[in-house]
Amino acid sequence: MKQETIEGSLIATAHEVVTAVVNPGDVVVDATVGNGHDTLFLANCVGPGGRVIGFDLQREAVESARMRLTAAGVCEAGYELHALGHEMMGAYVPAGVAAVMFNLGYLPGGDKQVITQVTTTLDALAAAFASLRRGGRLSVMCYPGHPGGDTEAEAVLKWVDGIEAATSSSTCYQRSGARATTPFLLVVEKS
Ligand SMILES: C[S@@+](CC[C@H](N)C(=O)[O-])C[C@H]1O[C@@H](n2cnc3c(N)ncnc32)[C@H](O)[C@@H]1O
Repeated sequence: MKQETIEGSLIATAHEVVTAVVNPGDVVVDATVGNGHDTLFLANCVGPGGRVIGFDLQREAVESARMRLTAAGVCEAGYELHALGHEMMGAYVPAGVAAVMFNLGYLPGGDKQVITQVTTTLDALAAAFASLRRGGRLSVMCYPGHPGGDTEAEAVLKWVDGIEAATSSSTCYQRSGARATTPFLLVVEKS
């Protein structure tokens, strides 16, 4: 896995690497909708002819994201949001998606007990990778600084190492001066 140190925002980097492979009309997935910031970003990438499929365990998160999309003028036909765990993704996402974004952990300002978990995260990553088209990208924001986040981040790193043969690149982005508890971004491109 390549290592890259960046000065700017990891989320902005995630958006850049996704933008590079997504075209208008594509289907993309937001695996952790939360307040819908990434969902809106993805909706803008694919435009009115594309589709964003989103998942979040919390119904309030899904509703908050729906309001964000509506306020931004995104057409309802351009997205479907599921109040479901992303581990169910395989039943809802077609083959050939251009990108899948994960932002692990808990919803900032929300219930810190509702947090992504190792087993379901790994199941969802496998389903996400299976649904990607060749050249499609998976981005995963990992947060090793909260209880359980370290184990999850380690498991995700191991998973990325394990699929190396099926990828054309995998990169770990960290901010300069990062410590063991600092968030990092993993990006995988399917070959
Ligand atoms: C860091 S937040 C996501 C932030 C979001 N991307 C945004 O732009 O606002 C993580 C989200 O993952 C959700 N989550 C936790 N477990 C989940 C699961 N199994 N499937 C889908 N979402 C889950 C939480 O409810 C929370 O909203």
